[in-house]
Amino acid sequence: MSTHKAIVTTAPRAPLSLLNVSTPSLQGNEVLIRVEWTASTPLDMHQAESGLLVNHPQVLGDSVAGTVVGVGEAVEGVGVGDGVFTFTLHAHQEYILVPSTSVGRIPPNISMQEAATLPDNFVTVFHTLTHDLHLSLPWPKPASYAPADSQTGFLIWGGASSVGMYALQILRFYGYTNVIAVASPGHHKLLGGYGARKCFDYNAADVEDALREEIGVRYVFDTIGHLDGSVRPISRVVGMGTQVAVLLPVIVVDAREEGGPVYEMDVEGCCEWAEGVGVRGVRTYFWAENAFFKEKLQAEIMPALLTSGDVKPNPYRAIEGATMVERAQKALDVLKGKGARGERLVWKVWEGEYDS
Ligand SMILES: NC(=O)c1ccc[n+]([C@@H]2O[C@H](COP(=O)([O-])OP(=O)(O)OC[C@H]3O[C@@H](n4cnc5c(N)ncnc54)[C@H](OP(=O)(O)O)[C@@H]3O)[C@@H](O)[C@H]2O)c1
Repeated sequence: MSTHKAIVTTAPRAPLSLLNVSTPSLQGNEVLIRVEWTASTPLDMHQAESGLLVNHPQVLGDSVAGTVVGVGEAVEGVGVGDGVFTFTLHAHQEYILVPSTSVGRIPPNISMQEAATLPDNFVTVFHTLTHDLHLSLPWPKPASYAPADSQTGFLIWGGASSVGMYALQILRFYGYTNVIAVASPGHHKLLGGYGARKCFDYNAADVEDALREEIGVRYVFDTIGHLDGSVRPISRVVGMGTQVAVLLPVIVVDAREEGGPVYEMDVEGCCEWAEGVGVRGVRTYFWAENAFFKEKLQAEIMPALLTSGDVKPNPYRAIEGATMVERAQKALDVLKGKGARGERLVWKVWEGEYDS
């Protein structure tokens, strides 16, 4: 049986470790990917710090950019040698096996590092907008398509987060023209280029008053999910008829604080909402229950929007380190220190030969 290297948790808040795990065998419709680059994300931090949904030792990570090194006999449309990305659990290892419908081919205008910024949050945005905010995002998008509510006010709280940057671009692609965003001032120009009509500084003392003056915000996408940093402020500015989607978990106490993080999953109960506000907590891991997206989102929609340039990958920072475990640990430490701002942290996984 062959094995390969993986990065695993060992206990909550303990250093990451290297483990040899079995390399799975290919079957029917599966694709074996050599993982070249991956990203470290807040979910990894939540899991490493609190043990949220973790059985130690657990391989973290959910975004892969790599090269196909094997395909099952039933696979069509993707072949050995193709550069691909995929959204999958346990991404922080040298090889990963996934169904062929869940890989997208990396277009020539996108690097492996950029591709590693994509899968989880591109999927998160489509899932949230359709499943939690009930928008219609038709695919293929008809040439003359414009949503009936294209002028409807849309607030992205956390425009400079990875999710926020993809949300702005995908809403622009679908014709939403009245999207405002909340982010640090240093990102406002970038977010304007992604389609934000106006940006607000969430650290400004008058941000809530300024947002209340934005008449007709009908949808709010909270891409941060921090009780005091986003959820409570949003609850104070929205009113009757507004639909709010909050990315779970709600962070009550940050990971970097003494005693470890505290998370909450009840978005309705964690603060007071005005009557008539609809609030939902987002769980992207159910995205594949939508059969159409399961087949098309990664294999077709993502490569098409990247090729056309309608969606640009997140800016990224490559985390250096002598070994795989050092790179993984450094990335986690940067996240814990809230050091990833308007960028995705990516790191090299494969460090072997390139002859297979
Ligand atoms: N439940 C799910 O299915 C799901 C899926 C995906 C992500 N998530 C969660 O969603 C959150 C965001 O993920 P991500 O990968 O997009 O994060 P990220 O890219 O690491 O977010 C970093 C950005 O957050 C912004 N930020 C921090 N506090 C803020 C606040 N109070 N208001 C506005 N912006 C703030 C910072 O913006 P500035 O630089 O402008 O200060 C920073 O650039 C994480 O907690 C993650 O676990 C959940």
